[in-house]
Amino acid sequence: MGHVAGARNLQLDDLKGYENILKGTVNRLSEDAAAIWTSKQAYLALGTLLTASAVEGIDACPMEGFDAAAYDEVLGLKEKNLRTVVVAAIGFRAEEDTMQHAKKVRKPLEDFVELV
Ligand SMILES: Cc1cc2nc3c(=O)[nH]c(=O)nc-3n(C[C@H](O)[C@H](O)[C@H](O)COP(=O)(O)O)c2cc1C
Repeated sequence: MGHVAGARNLQLDDLKGYENILKGTVNRLSEDAAAIWTSKQAYLALGTLLTASAVEGIDACPMEGFDAAAYDEVLGLKEKNLRTVVVAAIGFRAEEDTMQHAKKVRKPLEDFVELV
């Protein structure tokens, strides 16, 4: 809340109602529901990361199917009350990477987007 108050030049008290709504929503989630909700938040951020990387001409590779517990261990996330949800490598392709010349494979929009 302090971040919002600072950015908008407000007093913390001005945001009490907003804070109560947020806390009321989050605090009544079960542990499993909270884990799902926070994972989805990470994926929202991932979407922005991938889009921003593409706009800036930076290569990105989102990954699933990894050993999340091993990531948590190596990165010491448990101590920080964090956990691995998704992995994304970003950077620039190696010149010798032959896959960079392969044609991109993309499904037609109508195959996975339904307009209602
Ligand atoms: C180790 C690894 C794991 C990946 N896991 C997934 C995955 O679980 N789901 C998925 O849709 N793509 C996965 N990918 C594919 C990448 O997200 C990406 O789609 C792929 O590298 C092709 O990207 P491009 O079509 O933009 O070149 C994985 C790639 C790697 C290297």
